[in-house]
Amino acid sequence: MKKDLLSIKDLSREEVFSLFEDARELKAHPEAHRRDLPGKVLAMIFEKPSLRTRVTFETGIYQLGGIGIYLAPQDIQLGKRETVEDVARNLSRWVNGIMIRTFGQENVEKMAREASVPVINALTDLYHPCQILADLFTLWERGHDLEKFTLAYVGDGNNIAHSLIWGSARTGLNLRIATPPGYEPRKDIVEEARAQGARVEIFHDPVKAVEGADAVYTDVWASMGQEAEREKRIKIFRPFQVNMELFSKAKPQAYFMHCLPAHRGEEVTDDVIDHPRSIVLDQAENRLHIQKAIMRRLMR
Ligand code: CP
Ligand code: NVA
Repeated sequence: MKKDLLSIKDLSREEVFSLFEDARELKAHPEAHRRDLPGKVLAMIFEKPSLRTRVTFETGIYQLGGIGIYLAPQDIQLGKRETVEDVARNLSRWVNGIMIRTFGQENVEKMAREASVPVINALTDLYHPCQILADLFTLWERGHDLEKFTLAYVGDGNNIAHSLIWGSARTGLNLRIATPPGYEPRKDIVEEARAQGARVEIFHDPVKAVEGADAVYTDVWASMGQEAEREKRIKIFRPFQVNMELFSKAKPQAYFMHCLPAHRGEEVTDDVIDHPRSIVLDQAENRLHIQKAIMRRLMR
């Protein structure tokens, strides 16, 4: 594997599936791996809020025998108190890995270039690789052949959509993305990923995207950092709400998926997110197992 995990694009198909195998083992036998990363330290930089990412990385490194150091937005003030490069150089002298959640993807790239230790992208405006690896692992561990699986993503062409696109390139997942006009995923990313095997179709009609799908996935309409656009977006995205009417257009056994946090009553209704076929908590749990697999691979 490369030194860093900045995007699913950084991984080969073989590396993705080998992380899935490792995550399955770590999930089945956590006690057997208590000393896989003894005494290793992970610096965890957050420039945005988090529940799942913080708790799963911090719990994960602890369960492997190491420790995480949480750095809140006001602590290091990336790029204001000190440059990204200077933070990377300093951290590299003390810790064994850096996890970072920030705004621009260029910040994680700068950090990775300058740090001598591995850097893990824990969400940027562009990508959320750890989330999508957990999501695809969730389908894979249930025995699904991703090449025969159709996932309909309904909503904003955001970091989740972009990482799903690279997930499709690496696993063969058949991906349909439905967004309002003007909110599509980036064209250059769609084209580059298609050239590397991604099977992705873009729609503006949510029903067309969802019809006959094996899973329906949605995410918030206004991501972290877009709070000022929230009211405007709620109006534009309303027809893209995943409610029972839309969910029922998918296969009768279709799953509902969401990276969380969810804005109940906006992108998803209570009856869908609380439905017996909603697997959102399995996705959240699997963040822990897949990230342990990632840290073990990069920090050992
Ligand atoms: N899905 C996810 O990354 O959740 P948090 O923002 O709570 O970390
Ligand atoms: N698109 C969302 C994902 C949160 C996990 C955001 O960036 O806020």
